Amino acid sequence: MSTPAELRAAMVDGFAGDDAIGDPAWRAAALAVPRELFGGSFFAPVPGSDPTAYRPVHRTDPRWLEQVYADETLITQLDGHVRPEDVTEGAVTGTPSSSSTLPSLVLSMWQQLGVEAGHRVLEVGTGTGYSTALGAHRLGDGNLTSIEYDPLVAECAAAAIRAAGFAPRLIVGDGLLGDPDGGEYDRLIATCAVRYLPPGWLHQVKPGGAILVTLSGWGFGFGLVRLVVTAPGEGTGRFLPGCTSFMIARPHDRPPRQSISLLPGEERPTRIDPEIIATWTGSWVAQLAAPSAERMGVGGHQILSDVATGSQARTAPHPAGGWTVVQRGPLRLWDQVEDAVEAWQRAGEPHQEGFGLTVSATGQRVWIGSEDGPGWNLPI
Ligand SMILES: C[S@@+](CC[C@H](N)C(=O)[O-])C[C@H]1O[C@@H](n2cnc3c(N)ncnc32)[C@H](O)[C@@H]1O
Repeated sequence: MSTPAELRAAMVDGFAGDDAIGDPAWRAAALAVPRELFGGSFFAPVPGSDPTAYRPVHRTDPRWLEQVYADETLITQLDGHVRPEDVTEGAVTGTPSSSSTLPSLVLSMWQQLGVEAGHRVLEVGTGTGYSTALGAHRLGDGNLTSIEYDPLVAECAAAAIRAAGFAPRLIVGDGLLGDPDGGEYDRLIATCAVRYLPPGWLHQVKPGGAILVTLSGWGFGFGLVRLVVTAPGEGTGRFLPGCTSFMIARPHDRPPRQSISLLPGEERPTRIDPEIIATWTGSWVAQLAAPSAERMGVGGHQILSDVATGSQARTAPHPAGGWTVVQRGPLRLWDQVEDAVEAWQRAGEPHQEGFGLTVSATGQRVWIGSEDGPGWNLPI
């Protein structure tokens, strides 16, 4: 049976050849931080379940330690309150609301952030505290502040971070509001996703400093962006390669709704295959175009629903070929999506890394190619 140190070394060896985590200083951090202190009990997805069911894995499970070092995300909370300890029998369904992000992603994000000795960093989303401990190892306790929204999650993280021998500054609160004491940060890293950049972040990070965050929304599209602050409240940057997703920051989550009833509306043929908005970049484009809409459905049956206005769009395959869309309400959600998908197709269907973001006094705009390319305003 391998020891934690052996499993840790094997995990870091497994990252060899991955340039995204080639920095020896971050590898040293991964070798030094015992992930088993941050894992505790967690939820493992039940293979083949739909919707995904989760079964609790506890320290007493013979494969617990091996799973802790499997370079997987360890889900530690569902639906904002359900912990593995709460599940006494069988498996449960729910939406992950806290986790220890998979180590290779944490390390590559820390590396992409581009920190240097002496930098002051603000982390939003302490979670289990694993990424915080890595950051504290690299930067020194005094240079790192981490904010967690959920008080119980924050309490567990604080204990784990202490047990691992680190003492960064920890805050319980809404990280979207930034450091409550204000701050002059060189870098900000978020391990929860946001619908738009919280304006305060671009004031708390100094001009020349950088923010690394995943943009997301209610359409399940994701894009990891590295934004350089150009002036107080302003910044620009490009989205990065890869397929990074994070749970959305709690204040940016979709509004609660009753189960959806599909109502009549105006019907027409669609110009695009609806399934495209269920692909990695298609969902991203659709979300940019209709940011107030929640997306549901599978395959050619896509549903967009805007709770605030009651606007709906739903597509279906047509028996004679092609697809139709039924739209109702003040927002023509499908028209918005179709125009955006066609603009993206004309631009050559780039992956998220072909997009950029500019934040200015007048708003936040995601664009394709360059600032004067096709673009969409974020719902700030
Ligand atoms: C993916 S987990 C963080 C993973 C963590 N960095 C780690 O390595 O263990 C995301 C965390 O963000 C927290 N969160 C969500 N909204 C937040 C907010 N507005 N401010 C601070 N934390 C938030 C969640 O409670 C959750 O614990």
